[in-house]
Amino acid sequence: MEEKIMFDNPNIGILGLGHVGLPTALGLADIGWNVIGADDLKSKAQDIANGDAPFYEPGLSEMLIKNINSGRFSVASSVEEAIDASDVIFVCVGTPQNDDGSADLSQIENAGRTIAQNSNTNKLVVEKSTTPVSTSLRIKDTLRRYAKENVEFEVAVNPEFLREGTGLYDFFNPDRIVLGVESEAAKNTLLQIYLPLLAQTNPSDISDKEIYEAKSNDKFVITDVNTAELIKHASNSFLATKISFINLVADICEKSGSDVSKVAKGMGLDPRIGSSFLQAGLGFGGYCLPKDIKAFTKIGEDLGVDMSFFREVDNVNIRRVDQIIDKLKGKLWVLRDKTIAVWGIAFKPGTDDIRESPAMALIEKLIEEEVKLNLHDPKAMEEFKRTSLSEYSNIEYFTDPIDSSNNVDAIIIATDWPEFKSVDYKNIKDAMQYPFVLDARNLLNPVEMLDIGFDYIGVGRYS
Ligand SMILES: NC(=O)c1ccc[n+]([C@@H]2O[C@H](COP(=O)([O-])OP(=O)(O)OC[C@H]3O[C@@H](n4cnc5c(N)ncnc54)[C@H](O)[C@@H]3O)[C@@H](O)[C@H]2O)c1
Repeated sequence: MEEKIMFDNPNIGILGLGHVGLPTALGLADIGWNVIGADDLKSKAQDIANGDAPFYEPGLSEMLIKNINSGRFSVASSVEEAIDASDVIFVCVGTPQNDDGSADLSQIENAGRTIAQNSNTNKLVVEKSTTPVSTSLRIKDTLRRYAKENVEFEVAVNPEFLREGTGLYDFFNPDRIVLGVESEAAKNTLLQIYLPLLAQTNPSDISDKEIYEAKSNDKFVITDVNTAELIKHASNSFLATKISFINLVADICEKSGSDVSKVAKGMGLDPRIGSSFLQAGLGFGGYCLPKDIKAFTKIGEDLGVDMSFFREVDNVNIRRVDQIIDKLKGKLWVLRDKTIAVWGIAFKPGTDDIRESPAMALIEKLIEEEVKLNLHDPKAMEEFKRTSLSEYSNIEYFTDPIDSSNNVDAIIIATDWPEFKSVDYKNIKDAMQYPFVLDARNLLNPVEMLDIGFDYIGVGRYS
């Protein structure tokens, strides 16, 4: 006989309405759950409550309005209110990095303590943020330490795998749903929550029998809490490894006159390798891979494991930006007072997120070289203007990439926004001081660029 579900038809709370929390909240509301979200940044919570998405993500604004109007998604006026109204609470707060590379878990600890101090009924607390192995056990201790009398907590781990830029698509089309649990009751509650997503049906149409049988669905990986945390860190470290791997191959290609895009294609067609994350270029960035590989390295070292392999994966990545600067200098010699157009600031296309963006590291180096900067990004320019780099006096911003190329000594493509492929390059060549394109993302066709008359350099390719 299966143990009962912990909460039948639970009310769901989401703490932290960022790049993970908001799509998750809206996705869960959209499949039929009552979801209340909260963010301790009051202005952000207020914007979301008013139907204004706080960051760019395809489809997010529409999904926000839709689920506010359906009444299934609401924003609490305080974190405490969301805790009180929920049975199952997904913790989606930030886990930034400390100076030593370890994960800063203060937001996690704070969320755990706040939940404990404000819960008057039993709760299932689900850690969705990316955390080092054993963090959920620390959350469990915290919950117990601060719990009110007669209130009990269970902790589960449900790492998130969505990719910014396709966050909502990824919610509705998961490759896998990892559930780290400590009891049948917690497992069945989480199966109940996610089953409508896989069964494409309403929560009310799902029978108990289907919930109990769901554990044999291939998409669910059901395990213990520590293993669930490790699945996330190991996955991101593997993806980072693929990128650094192909970037080193690109270096060999450059020295040997070979073409890394063909090497990657030839490798990627092998299903054991796969073609994704084999694009040579400026390296990985964003709020996941750079900090997660550092945190994974640190927790491994703390546990006495030699993590030099992963440390080198990170070092290879950090060197990519310097290599692009070297290529620029190789062509233009002294950079001071040259005008350089940088296309792309976001860490990847489809988002305005510039956290740990390699383009930001590149811009910082160009500023150190005292160049004049013409900046263009289809979505991330406003985010950039909020950073200290924007205080540099020699920056001009352009909403149109063509305008940004007037009289420049070089264009650097730093983010592979697909719209950069369809720019009329013939049109801009003559407007440039010198027609040099440094394609740090291998976005363009080298043969076409050379045919137009550009001096063109990519990464790990012939030219
Ligand atoms: N961004 C991604 O693509 C991605 C993908 C998978 C996993 N993750 C992981 O998910 C977690 C969240 O990442 P993110 O990108 O959504 O971060 P984010 O910075 O966009 O959002 C975190 C939010 O939590 C809020 N917050 C902090 N403490 C809080 C508290 N005690 N109560 C309520 N709200 C609080 C912050 O104000 C912020 O709005 C991280 O651990 C990250 O590593 C991120």
